Amino acid sequence: MNTIKPLDHIANTKAYVPGGKLHGAAGPVAMLASNENPFGPSPLAIEAIRAAAAEGLQIYPDPDYTALRGAIAAAKGIGDPARIVTSAGSDEIIHLLTQCYAGPGDEVLFTEHAFSMYEVSARSHGAAAVKAPETDMTAGVNSVLGAVSPRTKILFLANPNNPTGTMLSVEALKSLQDALPPHVLFVVDGAYSEYLGPDYEAELRDLVDRRDTTVMMRTFSKIYGLAAARLGWAYMPRPIADTFQRIRGPFNVNALAAAAGIASVGDEAFLKRSRDHNTLWRARMTGALNAMGLATPDSHANFVVPDFGSAARAADANQALKDAGILVRAIGGYGLPSKLRITVGGAEDNTRVLDALQAFTAKR
Ligand SMILES: Cc1ncc(COP(=O)(O)O)c(C=O)c1O
Repeated sequence: MNTIKPLDHIANTKAYVPGGKLHGAAGPVAMLASNENPFGPSPLAIEAIRAAAAEGLQIYPDPDYTALRGAIAAAKGIGDPARIVTSAGSDEIIHLLTQCYAGPGDEVLFTEHAFSMYEVSARSHGAAAVKAPETDMTAGVNSVLGAVSPRTKILFLANPNNPTGTMLSVEALKSLQDALPPHVLFVVDGAYSEYLGPDYEAELRDLVDRRDTTVMMRTFSKIYGLAAARLGWAYMPRPIADTFQRIRGPFNVNALAAAAGIASVGDEAFLKRSRDHNTLWRARMTGALNAMGLATPDSHANFVVPDFGSAARAADANQALKDAGILVRAIGGYGLPSKLRITVGGAEDNTRVLDALQAFTAKR
């Protein structure tokens, strides 16, 4: 008999479901399930990892991550690097912020189809997970405000959101920010913000400066193509950064990831190439899917979300894609069972997924 029992709120936490792998496929697998960059990382990142590995893996990284925070500050126009924190993927930021600010008896708020780590994190820290309804897969300012209670400690909002690809305008974010009571920490998750470009990135940054209760978190896993390295960061008011720094692991970012981040955070040519490719193919895929009769709303991120009309048809389509060696993401767990989330990949993989879905839709 197992006599070692986890805390109740840990036992009641459902694990995050990752994109997974496709086993036993005959040919090359098109990996379109995790919103990764088909170009991989900037060549500067690969070179930096090689150099850092050659320099000495036996040495602990700089616990202050001074060079990494300085490089992020310089690339993103942030005046005070002390207000930047870095992490092993932005998932760690979600966890550490929740650990700092929410626990049993508290509520963590997010929207109906929000990124699922917000719920995993809230529950695993004993806080209640509260969901504000969305309209047409889009968060609403009034809906979110209506779900705030005296017990709400954190509001997580990804903009654009995963897995819907929808977003609020910066004006809407500002009115939400202005109307939120001061006991709520507003965490804006900009995981996909680089796909909108530097102007939007700057607007998210400036949002943090409007209030002392707003945090912006970011990741190197998406457009930077460094998902395997696990690197994230956040820009926040100084007291929140100081609190965060107190509880993170002293060496939470490994030296190879830090070197890759330093080398590539400001590689604007790489970012532009990735962004332009995404914009082009996202429009092509959206148009082609709609033409097949699969309603596909405009997405602001690096994925599209076609609707198959029913959960059963979406499951059939997912199986047809798997049979063709194409891995996309079923999002029934997000309350969207009739849809699939398809990452914008390289030209060849995008063509494969469109051809396979064309054949699938032509059959019925
Ligand atoms: C909205 C959003 N936030 C955060 C993350 C976590 O990214 P990572 O932990 O790889 O930095 C993801 C990954 O899919 C995401 O979609």
